[in-house]
Amino acid sequence: MSVETPARACGIDFGTSNSTAGWLRPGQSPLLALEDDKVTLPSVIFFNADENTVSVGRAGPGEYLEGYEGRLMRALKSLLGSNLMEGKTEVQGRSRTYMELLTQFIAELKNRTEVAADRSFEQAVFGRPVFFVDDDTAADRKAETTLEAIAHATGFREVSFQYEPIAAAYHYERQIDREELVLIADIGGGTSDFSLIRLSPQRAQLVDRRDDLLANGGVHIGGTNFDQQLSLASVMPLLGYRSQLKRGLEMPASCYINLATWHTINQVYTRRTWAELQELYLDTQSPEAMDRLFKLIRERSGHWLAMQVEEAKIALSAGDSTILHLDRLAPDLRHTLTRIEFEQASTQLVEKIGTTLNVLLKKAGVRYEAVDTVFFTGGASGVPMLRERISAMLPHARRVEGDLFGSIGTGLAVEAQRRFG
Ligand SMILES: Nc1ncnc2c1ncn2[C@@H]1O[C@H](COP(=O)(O)OP(=O)(O)OP(=O)(O)O)[C@@H](O)[C@H]1O
Ligand SMILES: [Mg+2]
Repeated sequence: MSVETPARACGIDFGTSNSTAGWLRPGQSPLLALEDDKVTLPSVIFFNADENTVSVGRAGPGEYLEGYEGRLMRALKSLLGSNLMEGKTEVQGRSRTYMELLTQFIAELKNRTEVAADRSFEQAVFGRPVFFVDDDTAADRKAETTLEAIAHATGFREVSFQYEPIAAAYHYERQIDREELVLIADIGGGTSDFSLIRLSPQRAQLVDRRDDLLANGGVHIGGTNFDQQLSLASVMPLLGYRSQLKRGLEMPASCYINLATWHTINQVYTRRTWAELQELYLDTQSPEAMDRLFKLIRERSGHWLAMQVEEAKIALSAGDSTILHLDRLAPDLRHTLTRIEFEQASTQLVEKIGTTLNVLLKKAGVRYEAVDTVFFTGGASGVPMLRERISAMLPHARRVEGDLFGSIGTGLAVEAQRRFG
């Protein structure tokens, strides 16, 4: 689709791990530079307690890793639809609602979009996963309503939503020259979303695409869940997860699960957890492992560890093994992770994603051979085992890799122009 005048509205892809903003204008790529020259803005916010400042994007983890005291928050989108959303948390000495914190991030995202575009936007199409919450329509609707309220609070007057995989389809549609039946597989940080859709340059001109969409499906599993499972299987045991207590019981798991889950890491730093762990220390058969855990909590290194695990996971998409450098837990501590270990830890996740896709294909009622193309997007579609699992279900389909981090934002820009002109 060519454009002669800049669109009135922008598209906003608020992602679990990365956010982007797209705006259609003549002769330029739709994605706007949100952090220096980068088009992705990591969905991270850091409340720096030493300097009393707030940083978003790459700058946040940067300050945290430099050793500034403060509160780092990632996977903010996972809060939408969770019961944490109702709660409050202490940030820079003040009690704040999670709603306020999310609004602060989206406001900054809007601000950066407008600085990059050198204009303001009153209308936007936001992406949304097929399900914010699995198997709970009311909670899912509430998550969208909450995001809509947040978008209004940041100054967007008109807000509408499009499914993220459909947005990715509109990005791919700009690249093809004949009709194709396409499965979009968008595997992001928080969700895996699929759309089966008929695409062609001619159909791209239509406003109403309902006839072209054969099925949508999704599940609340994404890259952050892969981080969690890898951490629980291979890293948390170094800190005492699954170790024995003297009374013949196993160490309680909750602290380790919180530590392995991006959006609950901060809960490990509460006084109550500290007191409980001190008591368990008296009973542990693995004091060395618990010493590492105590060091991590004292030094607030939970996010640092999760970043090491995530980096290792990404390295395992390309190689067979990788070494974790865990000096922050104990001097010269090294730990090797292998692709096989990662795949074992991920089996159930991959199966659940496979089942979701199977249900969708059955619901659509098309012959599997009729699907011409599988279009992969989203960072976690880089996991080889997952990609193979999806491709194996559609052996006749051509595999196409989209812009793993930019397809949704680009597609939302196309949709914004269609809806708002
Ligand atoms: N090469 C890679 N191999 C495996 N995983 C990767 C790779 N590169 C990035 N990832 C993972 O991809 C995820 C981020 O992907 P992406 O930016 O598409 O998600 P998102 O759009 O923020 O999330 P969502 O759409 O689910 O809300 C992270 O979990 C990251 O670790
Ligand atoms: Mg995404």
